[in-house]
Amino acid sequence: MTASLRGLRIVVSAGPTYEDIDPVRFLGNRSSGKMGFAIAASAARREADVVLVAGPVALATPDRVRRVDVRSAAQMRVAVLAALPADIYIAAAAVADFAPRHPSALKLKKSDTGDTLLLELVRTPDILAEVAAHLPRPRLVVGFAAETHELGRYAQGKLRDKKVDLIIANQVGMPGSGFESDDNMLTAFDHHGSHALGSGPKTELADALLDLVHERLGDGDATSATDPLAHRQR
Ligand code: PMT
Repeated sequence: MTASLRGLRIVVSAGPTYEDIDPVRFLGNRSSGKMGFAIAASAARREADVVLVAGPVALATPDRVRRVDVRSAAQMRVAVLAALPADIYIAAAAVADFAPRHPSALKLKKSDTGDTLLLELVRTPDILAEVAAHLPRPRLVVGFAAETHELGRYAQGKLRDKKVDLIIANQVGMPGSGFESDDNMLTAFDHHGSHALGSGPKTELADALLDLVHERLGDGDATSATDPLAHRQR
């Protein structure tokens, strides 16, 4: 039987972010949003109160999901923080790590720039690390790590650096897994070890991930972090 998440507030981030260079060009990561949308849909089927913060993607909103559309990492940060407090945060978004320091209000003309264009880039805010340090903290903070190789080493590094509870290592760079594909290959890492979620359709892996989330919430207590009384008792 599917584990219920009734009464719990889940915030999911999905898709890429676009960091504008000028009105017609941007920097961004590859992501269709399929993985994050599948997680949001599965959580809604389990009767959670779901907020889906979506970067620019071409996907329909899952039933019973509240969707907030954003474009940049800065906008995604504002939307995610505005959706707190929450019981669970799952960061499936492929947030751009850098953004142009001075986006141009006018289209950059090749005739003005010559053969090279130097862009000064600044780091975008680390939304996942900020949520993990946020008070009140979600009971479970889950990040993703898309990696082509050494999945365990990189995933464990992100687990430690971002101070999250779970990192889902996502195999990319091979057919049938990762960006844009309907299928995926995932392994969950926590501070004690790893747990293979396996490979298959993103819809099924989303279910497997939420079963793990349900298990990690532990006591089966479905009292929501958005319940003010529950907050005082925490
Ligand atoms: O969207 P699909 O086409 O279905 O593909 C799904 C996916 C491969 C994009 C997804 O499953 C995935 O792996 N997302 C994470 C991509 C990634 O490589 O993230 P990262 O290693 O840059 O970041 C690690 C974690 O920190 C992620 O949870 C990310 O959302 C978060 N992060 C990163 C940078 C930043 N500035 N803020 C963040 O919150």
